[in-house]
Amino acid sequence: MKNIVLIGFMGTGKTAVGRRLAGRLKREFIDTDAEIEKVTGKTVAQIFARDGQIRFRSEEALLVRKLAGKENLVISTGGGMVLNPENVRLLKENGVLIALTADPEVICRRGKNKKNRPLLMRGDLRENIKALLKEREGVYDVAEHKVDTGSMSLDQAVENIIHFLKEHNYIE
Ligand code: S3P
Repeated sequence: MKNIVLIGFMGTGKTAVGRRLAGRLKREFIDTDAEIEKVTGKTVAQIFARDGQIRFRSEEALLVRKLAGKENLVISTGGGMVLNPENVRLLKENGVLIALTADPEVICRRGKNKKNRPLLMRGDLRENIKALLKEREGVYDVAEHKVDTGSMSLDQAVENIIHFLKEHNYIE
């Protein structure tokens, strides 16, 4: 069975939805940020601060290559994972991509107390989110299905995804 890959901007609920979805489908769950932290022994914020964003992006690319041969996973990706077309190609090879979305206001509310998102740490949070969303316009359109997590509960988002996957024969 193909991997189920959640993509989307920071704060759209990829980790929470992915973990619960994996539980429902009895699949292994991989969160790419957490996996990179495990492999490098550093937090995402530390990698950005000490080694720079380019280094973080190459850790992401390396991890995707490792995951490319696996099946039956639920994978939650970091918000910048699909900026690299090669990552998209590899993730699509054995996975179905689902994009989670949310309005800037929702993302802002969810991001207020988070200290682990270096790209949103400088200056005004709301302005940062809006600018980055604009910069990334269309980037998450590589997904086959979209779910607006701002307008539903966690369980509703999971049910929505399961419904889509069944309808398209990705799961039984
Ligand atoms: C990033 C999103 C983060 C993390 C890193 C960069 C991005 O993941 O990978 O801070 O470029 O959008 P989340 O989307 O899980 O917060």
